[in-house]
Amino acid sequence: MLGNFSYSNPTKLYFGEDSLQFLNEELPKYGKTILLTYGGGSIKANGIYDKVVEILKANGKQIVEDGGVMPNPTVQKLYEGCKLAKEHNVDLILAVGGGSVCDYSKAVSVSAYCEEDPWEKYYIRMEDVDNKIIPVGCVLTMVGTGSEMNGGAVITNHEQKLKIGHIFGDNVFPKFSILNPVFTYTLPQYQMVAGIYDIMNHITEQYFSGEDDNTSDYIMEGLMKSLIHSSRIALENPTDYEARSNIMWTATWALNTLVAQGKSTDWMVHMLGQSVGAYTDATHGMTLSAVSMAYYRYICPYGLAKFKRFAVNVWDVDCSGKSDEQIAAEGLERMEAWMKELGLTMNISALGVTEDMLEGITEGVFVMDGGYKVLDHSEIMEILRASM
Ligand code: NZQ
Ligand code: ZN
Repeated sequence: MLGNFSYSNPTKLYFGEDSLQFLNEELPKYGKTILLTYGGGSIKANGIYDKVVEILKANGKQIVEDGGVMPNPTVQKLYEGCKLAKEHNVDLILAVGGGSVCDYSKAVSVSAYCEEDPWEKYYIRMEDVDNKIIPVGCVLTMVGTGSEMNGGAVITNHEQKLKIGHIFGDNVFPKFSILNPVFTYTLPQYQMVAGIYDIMNHITEQYFSGEDDNTSDYIMEGLMKSLIHSSRIALENPTDYEARSNIMWTATWALNTLVAQGKSTDWMVHMLGQSVGAYTDATHGMTLSAVSMAYYRYICPYGLAKFKRFAVNVWDVDCSGKSDEQIAAEGLERMEAWMKELGLTMNISALGVTEDMLEGITEGVFVMDGGYKVLDHSEIMEILRASM
């Protein structure tokens, strides 16, 4: 049974090859000063920067540049962005990049006018926003996180060895997001496949929880099938528009809050992956792939019916003559084979994790209680060891 909920998603999307021109419709809604946030330079190399700046200028905007947003944005960078945004009294933050740039922009949007240390308020104490929020718009260039249509903003604190996501409310979601699949063509294959696995894992995090019959699980099965199909085509031919556009659209639906309505969710792979990320600064999707198989094999007996359903409905496993345990295991084997086909990182030692880090990583894992098994310290350690 679906639980009760209220639902809205305020982000307006513009999707397709010509979607950038819709910036011309959005920009007049905001004041003159734009904080243009972007990453380490990919948008300058592929020409997206020039196109965006041209439109901003044509709309009479004054640009305050805030480049150099690193993958897994840091709290230090957040403080810098806040200073810049407040100093220039910016009217809109325009994020041009991947999940890191979008997340960072949302974090700046709620932190610039925050009177306390935003890390303490939003990330340690998980408090709500009670100050002015600067509106954010996104031009997405990397697919995976769903940040373009959600309130998530993940920040890394290297000093404290913590990587934490705050899920903000509707008022922090991007006001608009521009999704042009062609903008993702220049992604290195490593980032493309990491993003594909991030999408898959956003879905499985929400799927592997609860035993109720609900529409969300059927939607998620469809999303997973589409993703698996399109991923294989994109791997062969990264400029296949049909495949790249389907992947982009699936990413948005995987984490724009829709499929989580009225059901419980897990999120333990992300909690494990984030703690690995705090120690290694590795690519987000790869931190997930590296811990996934050990985690899912560990919890499978506790959620056997759902793992069986996953095997049959997503991976077309033939049930004849097999026990439920065998069917569920075969589903996971097929997922693992697909992950290897994509070339994902399958263990945490390949991301730089060493034996002496395991205790600290275990300590840094936030334990969620929505999955099939609430993990204790020794179980987390066991899963991490099995991921080595
Ligand atoms: O920095 P530049 O030079 O732009 O290069 C980036 C970066 O090195 C590059 N890139 C992006 N678009 C490109 C491109 N290179 C060539 N052509 C393009 N079109 O790709 C690299 C990775 O970018 P990044 O934004 O870091 O990747 P992603 O989108 O995976 O974002 C990762 C961050 O999002 C957080 C992660 O924890 C991580 O910090 N997440 C946010 C979530 C949310 N808001 O809900 C949920 C996710 O689970 C995730 O935790
Ligand atoms: Zn993710």
